[in-house]
Amino acid sequence: MATLNINGITHQVDAPADMPLLWVIRDIIGLTGTKFGCGIAQCGACTVHVDGQATRSCVLPISAVGGKKITTIEAIGETSAGQAVQKAWLDLEVMQCGYCQSGQIMSACALLDQHPHPNDAQIDAAMAGNICRCGTYPRIRAAIKVAAKEGV
Ligand code: FES
Ligand code: FES
Repeated sequence: MATLNINGITHQVDAPADMPLLWVIRDIIGLTGTKFGCGIAQCGACTVHVDGQATRSCVLPISAVGGKKITTIEAIGETSAGQAVQKAWLDLEVMQCGYCQSGQIMSACALLDQHPHPNDAQIDAAMAGNICRCGTYPRIRAAIKVAAKEGV
């Protein structure tokens, strides 16, 4: 049995200690906004925040997150960065198929928490681990800049 704090709610989950956090979030808790892509920390689709840091949940065992604050895409709109990013994403119509986008948004929000006005190099560094097979990268970068301008 593990105790996890996800989006401000404490969950007791009956799962092995080495089960990846992504499995628990999606299959046990039922929060399916976080996506499975590669399963080996190479694509970023599974990105969540752990104590505010963008983290690949597909390779993170739940034994590593006890007592930490986990935030998923379902709750990111409750933060000012999340609100600004989601609005910018919609205004600029960033999404194409959408599959990578919850991970993109989680990485963008973590970036803006750390660097409210990121330069191109900071954006590239923060977003490098998030792959988009639809090639929405230019719109992602533009939307991050819009969100930053609107005051995160
Ligand atoms: S599913 Fe976790 S990085 Fe690809
Ligand atoms: S929008 Fe399709 S993979 Fe990114």
